[in-house]
Amino acid sequence: MLARMTNRSPRALGIDVGGSGIKGAVVDLDTGEFACDLIVIPTPQPATPDAVAAAIADLARRASWDGPVGVALPSVIKDQVALSAANVDPAWVGTNAHELLARHLGTASISVLNDADAAGLAEVAFGGAAVRDGAVIFLTFGTGIGSAFFVDGVLFPNTELGHMTVGNAEAEHQASSAVKDRLGLSFPQWAGRVDTVLREFERLFNPAAFIVGGGISEDADAWVPLLTVDTPVIPATLRNRAGIVGAAMAAAVHLTP
Ligand code: BGC
Repeated sequence: MLARMTNRSPRALGIDVGGSGIKGAVVDLDTGEFACDLIVIPTPQPATPDAVAAAIADLARRASWDGPVGVALPSVIKDQVALSAANVDPAWVGTNAHELLARHLGTASISVLNDADAAGLAEVAFGGAAVRDGAVIFLTFGTGIGSAFFVDGVLFPNTELGHMTVGNAEAEHQASSAVKDRLGLSFPQWAGRVDTVLREFERLFNPAAFIVGGGISEDADAWVPLLTVDTPVIPATLRNRAGIVGAAMAAAVHLTP
């Protein structure tokens, strides 16, 4: 309790930056529930650092929020610097996201982390037990494929399995949910592609389980039973909310990977 009162805020604003939308909400960190309505702003195009930071500041204003802010980005984040930019503008590479956001938000109480890492941390804190049990790979299927590795709930950050070459293409170029939409694939057709990718991840990493999140995990019944991979595939319980909740958690404990 003392630790909570001294090191953690009970609420923080979590923001998840995606290729098409920037989503945010104030999160109650005791329950993982949203403490305000979800706010969604279209991702500015091009999604340059300044344009995205201005949109995030706008979102914070709409939430009437001036406390800690956590931001999940589709980028490798080391020492708060973005080292990759898969579905946002290439100008993010080399950007100190913390400094940029501090300038736009007028506060230094900011944590920036990879979006899949954020979603995985939220699942560890508020989701089902499987993600906390041994060596597991948490995956998000959306515009790309995000990954987060956990051993007994402890994160190994900044893994980028979506960019692993499987066959002759990157995993996310064949099996993200954006690819399913773009090619008009049925669930069975898409599940075949996911299976190929998971089999390769299984061959190389041998996790105890894959925990699958992202919007398409809401339809898990339509595709998870079709997979033939030997490793158990378990739908995440937090679904699309996870990135926001995990970003808020990072802000509250001043996590700055
Ligand atoms: C990015 C990752 C991100 C994932 C999901 C990938 O393209 O490289 O950093 O976690 O998409 O957004």
